[in-house]
Amino acid sequence: MTKYRIIGGNRLSGDLFVQGSKNAALPILVASILSASKCELHNVPKIEDVKETINILKVIGCQVEFDGSVLDIDATGELIHQVPDVCAQKMRSSILFAGALLARVGKAEIALPGGCEIGKRAIDLHVAGLKALGADVKEENGKLYCTTNGLKGTHIKLHTKSVGATENLILAAVLAEGQTIIENAACEPEVSDLIMFLNKMGAKISGAGVGTLIINGVKKLHPAHHSIAADRIVAGTYLIATAMTGGIVTLHNVNPRELGALTTVLSEMGSVVHGGNKCITIAGPERLKAVSKIKTDIFPHFPTDLQPQITAALAAANGTSEIIETIFENRYAHCLELNKMGANINVSADKRVFVIQGRDKLAGCEVTATDLRCGASLVLAGLVAEGETTVEGIEFVKRGYVDMAEDLRQLGANVVS
Ligand code: EPU
Repeated sequence: MTKYRIIGGNRLSGDLFVQGSKNAALPILVASILSASKCELHNVPKIEDVKETINILKVIGCQVEFDGSVLDIDATGELIHQVPDVCAQKMRSSILFAGALLARVGKAEIALPGGCEIGKRAIDLHVAGLKALGADVKEENGKLYCTTNGLKGTHIKLHTKSVGATENLILAAVLAEGQTIIENAACEPEVSDLIMFLNKMGAKISGAGVGTLIINGVKKLHPAHHSIAADRIVAGTYLIATAMTGGIVTLHNVNPRELGALTTVLSEMGSVVHGGNKCITIAGPERLKAVSKIKTDIFPHFPTDLQPQITAALAAANGTSEIIETIFENRYAHCLELNKMGANINVSADKRVFVIQGRDKLAGCEVTATDLRCGASLVLAGLVAEGETTVEGIEFVKRGYVDMAEDLRQLGANVVS
């Protein structure tokens, strides 16, 4: 296990350029196989999940070069339809190869991503949608076997606004015959970034960000250049970190409008936030105040991917707060670890509601991350804890943050990796 050692107490200050978005990059990398040509992607974050996706691209037959943050994906050659089990099982987003491979080669064989620490994470919407588009999908021995004689446009209504299912169905529908309508589609900025990339490749998709997507199938896609949008969750993590330490930081390469739900909460907690052109500045107060209630929800509401980090902030705030997690049924592991640091967080029996009584001080100790955002939350708690905090399980953090320790050091934190 890799770990970080953090000595708490330093206020964060300075400027930081925010990395490209994990959750935008992953579907866009997959989308690049839809054109039998070469795509060039910029601002690609060098994180573990991107490296795993590149492994899959190489195994199925693409030539890939990753230089700095520029990624060239050449999908000109013949592609194979089998995604290796080890790669597929490591990362939920591997399921997106089902839609893309069906569209490109008419078949896909891929291991089920399985459950994970934060919830069951069903794939019923992916499967039902691909079937509605004309694929035959069988589930056997923990694998999905998908085939089609040609995908055809159809009308799909999702029962839940799922980011992954929306993306998978877009990937399958762009080259299908005729029109596909996806009702109750996810409106997250990462879905819009995927749509922007596909439209640059010649796809005909309208309705990004409004809930109903209309996709007019095209015969062929062409190469495109695209710069991945900034990671709003990484930006949000560092805004929370700054507020917790009473510091003052400007983040660059961010879209403040995507962070509205978070900045409203941070303002309520006593921070001063200014959004500019592709930048955002935050100044934290001497002591953060509690908030009565935060409920996670789909965009533009408070993101579940920032829930563990704001929980850490509220654990050291003045007063009692309540968090309701509505997206994932098991995203509470950070609460137990924060309690080891002296936090007072009561988790309800159904694991959805956390009542947090803010403490004057958290105490450094050894804690362990069990998933990506849990790890980020524990690192943030370490920044304000008295003494030394060791966070084990940093390999989870590396799935989504290029180098969290270096970013925080650049802002003045004492973090050793
Ligand atoms: N759901 C279903 N059926 C499905 C698909 C989803 O019931 O077929 C349910 C899930 O169980 C969950 C809810 O719908 O309760 C939302 O899940 P969604 O499909 O939107 O999540 P995802 O696509 O698996 C992406 C991000 C997550 C982020 C969620 C929600 C990527 C690679 N992952 O996951 O990111 O939390 O959307 O915004 O885009 C993270 O970055 O830490 C992370 C977990």
